[in-house]
Amino acid sequence: MKENDRTTEVTDAAYEVVAVTDGDIAQIAELERECFSDPWSEQTLRDSLVNPLYRFVTVKDGERVLGYAGMFLTIPEAQIANIAVAPDMRRQGLGRLLLRGLVREAAEAGAEVAFLEVREHNAGAIALYEQEEFVRVGMRKNYYDNPVENGYVYMRMIERE
Ligand SMILES: CC(C)(COP(=O)(O)OP(=O)(O)OC[C@H]1O[C@@H](n2cnc3c(N)ncnc32)[C@H](O)[C@@H]1OP(=O)(O)O)[C@@H](O)C(=O)NCCC(=O)NCCS
Repeated sequence: MKENDRTTEVTDAAYEVVAVTDGDIAQIAELERECFSDPWSEQTLRDSLVNPLYRFVTVKDGERVLGYAGMFLTIPEAQIANIAVAPDMRRQGLGRLLLRGLVREAAEAGAEVAFLEVREHNAGAIALYEQEEFVRVGMRKNYYDNPVENGYVYMRMIERE
C-alpha cells in the first residue's frame, strides 16, 4: 500500500497529524459508522487512500486512531470530505489539529481555496469551521439524508506561505 509521505506534520504538545496508512482503515471505518448516519464503507476508504487526488490524515495514540480527516485536491480547490474525532476524545483540540493539518497540506499542494459541506444543525462542527476562518457561502436544500437536512457550504481562502 502506498503511504502518503507528502503529509505535513502538524503538532501540538501531545499529538501529531500523520498520513493514514492501510493499517488504520478498519478503525476509521468503525469511526465512520459511529459518527455518521451515512458512513463511508471500508472499501470506499481503501479506494480513497490510493486515490492520488485524495489526502487522508489521522491523529493516533499508539495504534489507536483518535480522529481522521480527508480531502480531495482538485487544484486550485480543496474539497474537505470528512473529519471525525472519537466521541471520548472530543473537545481536546483534535478536530482543530486535523483541520489545520489538511489546510496546511492543501496549501503546500497549491490549493487556493477550500470548501466543505456541513449539516445545518451540526453546531459543534460549524463552531469549529467558523473558528478556523471558514465562511458560510451557500446552502444546499435537503442535501443530506438520514435525516433529511439542509447543508451549508463553507469556504476558506488559503494563504500562500
Ligand atoms: C466536529 C468534530 C470533528 C470536532 O472535533 P473536536 O476534536 O471535538 O473539536 P475541537 O476540540 O478541536 O474543537 C475546537 C473548537 O470547535 C468548537 N466545537 C467543537 N465541538 C463543539 C461542540 N460540540 N459544541 C460547540 N462547539 C464545539 C469549540 O469552539 C472548540 O473549541 P473549545 O473546545 O476550546 O471551545 C467532532 O465533534 C466530531 O467528530 N463530530 C462527529 C463527526 C462530524 O460531525 N464531523 C463533521 C462533519 S461536517
